[in-house]
Amino acid sequence: MPIVAMETSFLEKYGPWVLVTGASRGLGAEFARQCAERGLNVVLAATNADLLESRAHELERDYGIETRTVVLDLGREDILQHLAPATESLDIGLLVNNAGISNVRPFLHNDLDQLVHQLHVNARAGLILAYHFGEKMADKERGGIIFLSSASALHGTAYCANYAGTKAYNLILAESLWYELGKHGVDVLGFMAGPTKTPGWDANEPRSRRLVKVMDAKTVVAAALDALGKRPSIIAGKGNRLGYFTLGVMMSRAGAIRTLGRSMNRMFGPFSKSN
Ligand SMILES: NC(=O)c1ccc[n+]([C@@H]2O[C@H](COP(=O)([O-])OP(=O)(O)OC[C@H]3O[C@@H](n4cnc5c(N)ncnc54)[C@H](OP(=O)(O)O)[C@@H]3O)[C@@H](O)[C@H]2O)c1
Repeated sequence: MPIVAMETSFLEKYGPWVLVTGASRGLGAEFARQCAERGLNVVLAATNADLLESRAHELERDYGIETRTVVLDLGREDILQHLAPATESLDIGLLVNNAGISNVRPFLHNDLDQLVHQLHVNARAGLILAYHFGEKMADKERGGIIFLSSASALHGTAYCANYAGTKAYNLILAESLWYELGKHGVDVLGFMAGPTKTPGWDANEPRSRRLVKVMDAKTVVAAALDALGKRPSIIAGKGNRLGYFTLGVMMSRAGAIRTLGRSMNRMFGPFSKSN
């Protein structure tokens, strides 16, 4: 009888449970939905209890999967203790480190406390969760971790300096773990989402829609799930890939950073008289 190589399904590779942080809305809610569509049970974590409950209810109703919700501020010191009761008994095969705070404004117009909170939510929380669940996945020699990064990880990006710094951290951590944990059967992806229509994107009140092509969450999340296990990192959207490739090879570092600073000012500002 001929031996037929069977492709391992997404559920076999990354199931039976996925933990999605920031699953109450935006990209996180779409990650939760598309994972449920692929047959995974979902743990949804975020701070908004009502939104989490209604998302979980929709997923159970539409896809017949199981859910758990965890109401948790990922800026807290003791996030593992708060997650443990809901996740300890579950076989988490996929972690989506999605929760993130993005405020576009001049660096010095933020409170320092807000910036530190943003650092904790965007970077520290993902580190802790990747360590905790990555160890369990490596023991089982199976699993996946997605870190939400952004194309702002690639160059200094004015008016979201701390955000860009946290996204650079996520990208480099993800790419490094892609190699290291990859040897233990764990797929890791640094996913640079481009501008995507979400409540978080809208909250920054972008002014010029002509400067960038804003993508929809469904397309962006599908690109991330499809890239997992195939490469260490990816920028969502062909146009974004081309744009950042051009910035990287055609311009000096200073030129690229100035170009991005001017675009940010035009799109979200004006923040200064001379731009
Ligand atoms: N949209 C874009 O254009 C874009 C581009 C590049 C990268 N990204 C990245 O993609 C991810 C999702 O972005 P998005 O646009 O979907 O953002 P969003 O619409 O603002 O949603 C953010 C999610 O994170 C959760 N969250 C925020 N603070 C939290 C905290 N302290 N503890 C726990 N959860 C918290 C929010 O839930 P609660 O309010 O319920 O806590 C929400 O579910 C972020 O990491 C972002 O940096 C987005």
